Amino acid sequence: MTKLNKVTLNKRLLATGFAFIILCAGLIGFNHANIKVLEPSVANAATVTYTATANLNVRTGPSTANKIIATVKQGTKLTVTGKNANGWLKVSLNGQTGYVSGQYVKISNSSSSTETVTYTATANLNVRTGPSTANKIITTVKQGTKLTVTGKNVNGWLKVNLNGQTGYVSSKYVKISNSSSDAIQVVAKPESIPVLVNKKNKLPENYVPKDLVYTSIPFTFKEKTEKRKMRSEAAVAISKLFTESKKQGVSLLGVSAYRSHATQVALFDSYVKRDGYAKAITYSALPGTSEHETGLAIDVTGGNGKCAAQDCFGGTKEAKWLQAHADDYGFIIRYPKGKESVTGYKYEPWHLRYVGKSIAQTIMSQGITLEEYYYTRAVQK
Ligand code: DAL
Ligand code: ZN
Repeated sequence: MTKLNKVTLNKRLLATGFAFIILCAGLIGFNHANIKVLEPSVANAATVTYTATANLNVRTGPSTANKIIATVKQGTKLTVTGKNANGWLKVSLNGQTGYVSGQYVKISNSSSSTETVTYTATANLNVRTGPSTANKIITTVKQGTKLTVTGKNVNGWLKVNLNGQTGYVSSKYVKISNSSSDAIQVVAKPESIPVLVNKKNKLPENYVPKDLVYTSIPFTFKEKTEKRKMRSEAAVAISKLFTESKKQGVSLLGVSAYRSHATQVALFDSYVKRDGYAKAITYSALPGTSEHETGLAIDVTGGNGKCAAQDCFGGTKEAKWLQAHADDYGFIIRYPKGKESVTGYKYEPWHLRYVGKSIAQTIMSQGITLEEYYYTRAVQK
């Protein structure tokens, strides 16, 4: 082999090596940028089940920007083949690959599942001595009665326990529902001022408040963007709050009020990229579940603009004033300290939520959350 040939061969080997390295890097890069290979614990199909908690769109890619391939019904078990960094799951649907938002998927460990199933009579229901109409009627239970089912559905009949007595009812008139506490509800009245929007109660898809207006308060920025907007009633209230606080020597600035769904998608994605999904959901709402999308929430900070939406805002003169007076203008500190297990979010002394004066005063004077307000109200009345 001549010297020249040797050089050429070495160059070729080098080039092949480079190509191989680039190919590997490309493949690794693809995995990291898009689909993460499942960790062994998650990949163990024998123990983990994935269930759609709502009717769920399956798309061509991991974001709502991608086309819908199919919609699976709430309760459908999903075959998850990959996990995306932004909270989307790769699924296999009758052999076809698709992507679903992890927001609407319940991940449960089938070996330690504590999921309970409830059985409700959908009509006035005869309870019989045996599993057919040929058997005698013991009693009749009213429509809506919850049943204690003790035996499997045999020939369409369920064995029930009624005040200690065994009986049989036709399953035709029994609603079987999964009382999974993980289910996410779509709020019925998104335009209602005291609407509850949280990790379990999301806004309808494409919801945009009808009466958004520019607030008249100063912000930490100059641009005339959607972030300055609130629903008209809340805009009037925040303006009053700012005027009064100033009179009392407390100067405030708006940081972020209304956020469109698209903005919340981009914001949440950016947090996931920065901190990872598990951390991001402790301080940022999944798109569709942010109060900022209602036009009824606003993040504020002190007049110097420092500590905007940051922990250091806590304990400042401005934060203390808001804690003591926000309710007089119809606002609550929505994510209080010590209520992380109720709200699902860490303390946010800057996030004000307009609920109207009466409810705000009830909530703030009792030191409770909007969730607790709804829970206790039913008992109080
Ligand atoms: N930071 C609150 C939870 C939101 O993203 O709406
Ligand atoms: Zn906020």
